[in-house]
Amino acid sequence: MAYDAGALIVAAMGAREKAYAPYSGFLVGAALLTDDGKIYTGCNIENAAYSPTNCAERTAFYHAVKEGERCFSAIAITGAMADVDAIPDYVFPCGVCRQVMAEFCGPDFAVISARSPADYKVFTLKELFPEAFGPGNLRQTSL
Ligand code: THU
Repeated sequence: MAYDAGALIVAAMGAREKAYAPYSGFLVGAALLTDDGKIYTGCNIENAAYSPTNCAERTAFYHAVKEGERCFSAIAITGAMADVDAIPDYVFPCGVCRQVMAEFCGPDFAVISARSPADYKVFTLKELFPEAFGPGNLRQTSL
């Protein structure tokens, strides 16, 4: 589905303001677009025990899946340390989040990394996570 990257990035920037990141100080927001045009947002949520930390992207996916969504077109991501005035760098999803994307999304799913609504890069999931292990590996009937 065609998407409005600017609107998705604005939603990701709003979600970033909700990030709970007292340990790293790195605030991330994500906005996930469903095939039928709904947006689910997420922020990173850290934990004193560190490993329970959830990235913004996964928060958005789990939020959407809990609402019954299964089909997604794009995700916008924006992240930076808390004290910056402007987002200095493009942030890309960690490996665990790429694996979660591969669970629900096809190879053409768009990953938009944004510094601002007008300054962003777009990659497909296939470009960011080629040769992924995914649900298809567990659903082969020919064996
Ligand atoms: N983080 C995300 O939420 N998404 C990314 O794409 C990269 C990293 C979070 C996890 C942790 O709370 C903080 O950023 C520093 O790694």
